[in-house]
Amino acid sequence: MKTFILLAALLFAAEAAPQRKSLTLSVHAKRIVNGVDAVKGSWPWQVSVQACTAGFCTHNCGGSIINAEWVLTAAHCITNPDPEAHRLVFGLHDRSDESESLIRKPTVIRPHEDFINDGFLAFPNDVGVLKVDSPLDLARPNISPAKLVSADVGPLDGTECTITGWGRLYGGGPIPEILQQATTRVLSNDDCISQGIGQAQYQYHICVNDDDGSNGSCNGDSGGPLNCPVGNDQQVAGVASFVVTGCSVTAPAGYARVSEYISWIEENTQ
Ligand SMILES: *[C@@H]1O[C@H](CO)[C@@H](O)[C@H](O)[C@H]1NC(C)=O
Repeated sequence: MKTFILLAALLFAAEAAPQRKSLTLSVHAKRIVNGVDAVKGSWPWQVSVQACTAGFCTHNCGGSIINAEWVLTAAHCITNPDPEAHRLVFGLHDRSDESESLIRKPTVIRPHEDFINDGFLAFPNDVGVLKVDSPLDLARPNISPAKLVSADVGPLDGTECTITGWGRLYGGGPIPEILQQATTRVLSNDDCISQGIGQAQYQYHICVNDDDGSNGSCNGDSGGPLNCPVGNDQQVAGVASFVVTGCSVTAPAGYARVSEYISWIEENTQ
């Protein structure tokens, strides 16, 4: 009986993901690969979401400031419910200089309740929010809230956007000191599927891939923003979620589609 269940699961997997071998999705995947140093202060909603062990904290994920009390990140970045396991750094540019940054601990740690940590499903609902232990002073330099893309903006297919983060410079590579940014482009859901993310679903994912297959995300970018031009603003359209293992820049990167989570975010940041 068990063998039958297992075989059925494998058959299903083979059908659902014919490119299985090249499609080992890694949720911790996401530096900016082939980016450039950001100009200080140009992405003032960018957060460094750090992981702490025995009081020692290190950059783990990105995030975006929602308002003075809440941060948007990826669910997989905040699966540990212990506030002491997290540290949030705001207004950061160079990781080696926190002198102008605000530092906070979370008091509420809320990954999306329907997040599924399964690459075969392309990690649905990979969003979450954190409440900080004391409100941010948004009048400080280089600290301001993100504008989140609302559902009426539409899919943004073909839009040139910017990914930002302190993620690895290449698969297995170092974490940069200076915040990186790179240009990329939003794919339609069909193009995302045909370019290798067979499990992409519009209501969960916004996929990006740059025109020459040179720019991408890598470990440490997770949770951080996909910044897209909407009207006269840069708005956050995605939350970095996964890439193909090794941070391949030829394959698309998967972001959680923020416009589909606006109500969830509103309900969960009360
Ligand atoms: C890759 O990112 C860099 C830095 O933002 C940018 O100059 C370049 O145009 C990008 N390449 C593509 C193909 O978008």
